[in-house]
Amino acid sequence: MSRCFEKNNLLLERAEKVIPLGSQTFSKSYLNFIKGAYPLFLDRGEGCRVWDVDGNEYIDFLLALMPVVLGYCDPDVNQAITNQLQKGISFSFSTELESILAEKLIQIIPSAEMVRFGKNGSDATAGAMRVARAHTGREKIASCGYHAWHDWYIASTPFSLGVPECEKGLISKFIYNDLDSLEDLLRRDSGGYAAVILEPANVVDPKEGFLEGVRDLTHKYGALLVFDEIVSGWRTGLGGAQSYYGVTPDLSCFGKAMGNGMPISALVGQRKYMKTVEKVFLSSTFGGETLSIAASIAVIDKMSRLNVPDVMHRTARILKNDINDAMRDAGVQDYLEIGGVDWWPRIIFKNTGAADIMLATSLLRQELAEAGIIHGAGISMCYAHCLGDEPKEIVKRWKVTLDAYKEAISSNSPSTYLRGEVMCPPYQVR
Ligand SMILES: Cc1ncc(COP(=O)(O)O)c(C=O)c1O
Repeated sequence: MSRCFEKNNLLLERAEKVIPLGSQTFSKSYLNFIKGAYPLFLDRGEGCRVWDVDGNEYIDFLLALMPVVLGYCDPDVNQAITNQLQKGISFSFSTELESILAEKLIQIIPSAEMVRFGKNGSDATAGAMRVARAHTGREKIASCGYHAWHDWYIASTPFSLGVPECEKGLISKFIYNDLDSLEDLLRRDSGGYAAVILEPANVVDPKEGFLEGVRDLTHKYGALLVFDEIVSGWRTGLGGAQSYYGVTPDLSCFGKAMGNGMPISALVGQRKYMKTVEKVFLSSTFGGETLSIAASIAVIDKMSRLNVPDVMHRTARILKNDINDAMRDAGVQDYLEIGGVDWWPRIIFKNTGAADIMLATSLLRQELAEAGIIHGAGISMCYAHCLGDEPKEIVKRWKVTLDAYKEAISSNSPSTYLRGEVMCPPYQVR
């Protein structure tokens, strides 16, 4: 008996009439899941679990696209928000909280000497590009990874409808773990590049010397090195990938996990670059909103106190091993594997039988949801996944998934097993 998604489907029908795609975020929309047979509308969360509008319960590995790092309704973070709520949310001038959080970031992040807050990761990366352009007097950007919904970045993707043509000549892509691909760009327009921006920690570990090589090449060609730590921040470790891998950039961008779900981001960097922000326009009404800042302080305090990144890495390793064992036991080891880095393991599709990759991914996501797990491409961990019997429960649910997936993927007509529409993401980010 499949789970009931009656209210989910009714809500989607209603939302699509008034909201494009029925969602505020492409990656949370039905494009990435199984329209008609997926819990696209959630009602509440606690720890690592969420409940949809039909009352179905799930262990969540999407975590709101990774902001939830401690767990839903974390008591310490919620308390910090509630305490601040009694005093007010947004004020006409600065609050002491801004300095408290900035000082904490400076303490834990190697590249941070000054800080400017924003609301979305895109605020921080757009700010970094403007600072780099202002500082160097150049315009071009070399990028690797996903960085923002704004024109300067989306110009480099196939999803650039509505972006001015002139932006497309200003950004070029290089390949992770391929220094030659970066040097080719920089050499072709020596003196043209303002910034090299990359996600320093990616779905694979950097090859030995890669990050150091990126730093040296960037500086050799007179550009600023920007680490986009919007995913890796707080998850590789509290000091970000720059601390984890020991390479310090000029500027860095943080967001997502900073507030355990509250909207906050930060551009941080060396003083000589960040002082540019006194002249460069990087300014927003809600940059100093206090509930998010109070939440972020509570997140850092709790994560440091409990050494949360290490706990998450340890549990991820256990899950990786146990789920791979379960795959062997279920006889799907030729189809699937859990691989990737400890801070962000991933599902690897080794063989998809008669299905194409989108159908295979849809089938797996469908069967995971049926067994009570919401999943994307990565195993995005939060602290609550690591507590009590949760790891055992996660593996138990995977085992149920694997039997159902095996039946679908090894059949001659896997599409007949899909109870909704095949997912069709707008483009591949990583
Ligand atoms: C690595 C990276 N950088 C930047 C962003 C943009 O952040 P936001 O969506 O909060 O603007 C994202 C969002 O997914 C991201 O994954």
